[in-house]
Amino acid sequence: MKPIEIVKGIYWVGAVDWNIRDFHGYSTPQGTTYNAYLILDDKVTLIDTVKKEFADRLLDNIAQIIDPKKIDYVISNHTEMDHSGGLPRVMHKIGEDKPLYCSKMGQKNLALHFPEKWNYQPVENGGVLNLGKRTLTFLETRMLHWPDSMFSYVKEEELLFSSDAFGQHYAGPERFDDQMGEAIWPQAMKYFANILLLYAPLVLQLVEKVTQMGLAIRTICPDHGIIWRKDPAKIINAYGEWSRQKPKKKAVIVYDTMWQSTQKLAEAIAAGLDQTGTEAKPLHLRAHHRSDVITEILDAGAVLVGSPTMNNGLFPTVMDFLTYLKGLKPNKKIAAAFGSYGWSGEAVKLINKELEEIKFELIDPGLKIKFVPGPQEIEDAFQLGQKVGQALEKL
Ligand code: FEO
Repeated sequence: MKPIEIVKGIYWVGAVDWNIRDFHGYSTPQGTTYNAYLILDDKVTLIDTVKKEFADRLLDNIAQIIDPKKIDYVISNHTEMDHSGGLPRVMHKIGEDKPLYCSKMGQKNLALHFPEKWNYQPVENGGVLNLGKRTLTFLETRMLHWPDSMFSYVKEEELLFSSDAFGQHYAGPERFDDQMGEAIWPQAMKYFANILLLYAPLVLQLVEKVTQMGLAIRTICPDHGIIWRKDPAKIINAYGEWSRQKPKKKAVIVYDTMWQSTQKLAEAIAAGLDQTGTEAKPLHLRAHHRSDVITEILDAGAVLVGSPTMNNGLFPTVMDFLTYLKGLKPNKKIAAAFGSYGWSGEAVKLINKELEEIKFELIDPGLKIKFVPGPQEIEDAFQLGQKVGQALEKL
C-alpha cells in the first residue's frame, strides 16, 4: 500500500497486514494495519512505527516522499510492539541520535523493550513541540490502554494522532471512513470491546474532558484501521456510548457442549427469552471466537453461561472464556449458569463462582440436568429464559 496524503503535508506511511488472523488472542478475520504518519514541516516528524517485520515497508513508504535520513523527530505515542517494533530499524536508518519523543512512562517502557541508548525526550501532559508551521501538543492518556499511551494533536490542522484509541482491526484498500461507510462499525465496536472495555471509566472521563475542552477535531488518525475524517465526532460519541454499557434487552447465551445436551438447554433458554421479546444470542464457543462473544456482550443486559461437567470441572473453552470475560471487567449484568452432567456435576457451581467474581447478578441458582434433557428439563430451561427476559424488562 502506497503512502497517502491525509491533509497537505501529512501522510499515512504505515503497513497493511493482510494475513494476521490472531492478534494476541483477538481474532482478526479481516487482518489489520499498523498506521504510522509522516509530517513534512521545518522539522520532518514520524509519528509511531510499525510491527518489526513491516519496518522495511514503512521505510519504503517514507522514501517515496522524502529521504528517511531527513526525518528530524520521531514520536512514540505507545510502546506496544505493533507500533514500536520498527523503531530499531528506523532509528538505525535515520540516525540513532535523532530525538525520540514519548511520555515518561514511554521512555521507561521503551528502555525495557530495546537496549539501544536512544536520545529520549520525555514530554509532559500538555507539552508542545514546534515543528515550524505546525505544533504538536502531547496529551497523556495513561491506561488507554497502556501506562505509556499518549495522543499527539496538531492544532493547526485540528488533527489527532490517537494511538490505539478509535482503531479497528481491518486490512483493506480503504484509508478513510468515507470510503468504508457503515461496514467499519462492527470492527470499531469489536476493537473497543476487546481492547478498551477494561478501561471504560477512563474512556468516559477522556471523552467528557475532550468535549468540555472544546478541542476542535477534524481528523482522527488511529494506529489501526481507517482514518476518521468524515465525521470524527461519531466515533467519539460511540466511545462514550460503549463506555456507558447501557444494557439492551438482549441476552447472550454462551456455551459449549459434548453430546448436545447443554446445547439443547441453550436453545430452550433462547426460546424462552424470545417469548418475552428479548433478543437472544446463543453462541457456541467452538463456532464463535471469544473476541466476538465479548463484542456481543458489550450491549447485552444478561449473560447465560453453559458448560457440561468434564473431568469434575468446566469444559476448557468455557473456562477460557470466563477468564477472558473477567479480565475485561464489563459492567454489572444479570446472569445464570446451566449445563448437563453425568455423575459429579460441578460445572454450574463453578460457573456461578466465576460469575459472582465478575460481579454479575445471579438471577437463578442455575440449571443442572443429568445426561440428556427430557421434556421437563427443556421446559425448565425455557422458563429460565423467560425469567431472565422478564427481569430484563424491569431494568
Ligand atoms: Fe496497537 Fe496497544 O497496540
